[in-house]
Order: sequence, then structure tokens, then C-alpha cells
Amino acid sequence: MAEVEEGATRRDFINVASGAVGVVGIAAAAWPFINQMNPAADTLALASTEVDISGVEEGMSITVVWRGKPVFVRHRTAKEIEEAKDVDLGELRDPTPDADRVQKPEWLILIGICTHLGCVPLGQKTTEPRGDYDGWFCPCHGSHYDSSGRIRKGPAPLNLPVPPYVFTGDTAIKIG
Ligand code: FES
Repeated sequence: MAEVEEGATRRDFINVASGAVGVVGIAAAAWPFINQMNPAADTLALASTEVDISGVEEGMSITVVWRGKPVFVRHRTAKEIEEAKDVDLGELRDPTPDADRVQKPEWLILIGICTHLGCVPLGQKTTEPRGDYDGWFCPCHGSHYDSSGRIRKGPAPLNLPVPPYVFTGDTAIKIG
């Protein structure tokens, strides 16, 4: 009986030991592939997107792609700017002053992905609904964003994010 137990124990040890070698083997084989997944320098350069916004008139929006994501560039009207500023931050779910979300009041730049479950909100085209706060409306579950891209109503927990960007001229921006 003791012999059987001892045999079983040794066999278990051999199984465990070879299993451990197997894991190390897989990790060693996987590393070159993981390393290859790091972006090359030329790919990193493409990680920014230059946008000419000279043709985007007041009240218009364009959608550009940055790192595979839709980015909304909106030339806000005076009314939208006023509405975005004239908000009691205590009413907001994700309280952020409009001034912290724009570099120039007339230009609002946002990642156009709803912070609830990732749909692309409507409001970029003049024919699309813009929600109850003159901004964007996500039709998937009814989130309303205001004219600063802040969540005002519906299930989304956070404001539409502002991507990193710089003005490279009066009518040109570089996103990323
Ligand atoms: Fe936008 Fe659900 S994904 S409200």
C-alpha cells in the first residue's frame, strides 16, 4: 500500500515538474511575439493625426480618425459656448468646467465614443438628434451629452474624453 502511494506521489511530482517546464517553454516562445507587438518608431509617428480645420464653419462638426477612434471636432456657436459655461458644476455627474475641456472656446475636440458601452453618439450631422443639452445623443441606451461633451442624462458614467492635441496654426490641430 505504501509502495502504491509512493509511486503515485512520484508520478504526481513528475507530472507537476513537466507541467512547470511546459509553462516556462510557452512563456519563452511567446516573448518574441509579444516583443514584436511593441509599435515600431514609424507606427508611433502615425499615432498623431494632423487636421486642417479651416473649412469647418461655426456650427459644423467633422469626424476624424485617431488611433482607430472617431474624434469629433466641433466649431461651437456662441450659444453653445455660453450654455457650456453656464452650468452649475454641482449638477454634473462628472463635474468638469468647460474651460478645462477646451483650449479655445470655439473649438471642442472629443473622442466620440460613449462612455457607457462604447457606441458612437449622434449629433455630428445637422440632421442628427443632439440630445436635450445641445451636444450629442447616444441612441444605444439614451445618454445625453452637453455642448462641452459632458454627460448630463442617461446611463453613461463619464464625459466624452478630450484627446491630447495642440494647435499647430490658427486653423490646424495635431491630435496625439
Ligand atoms: Fe451610449 Fe449605452 S453605449 S448609452
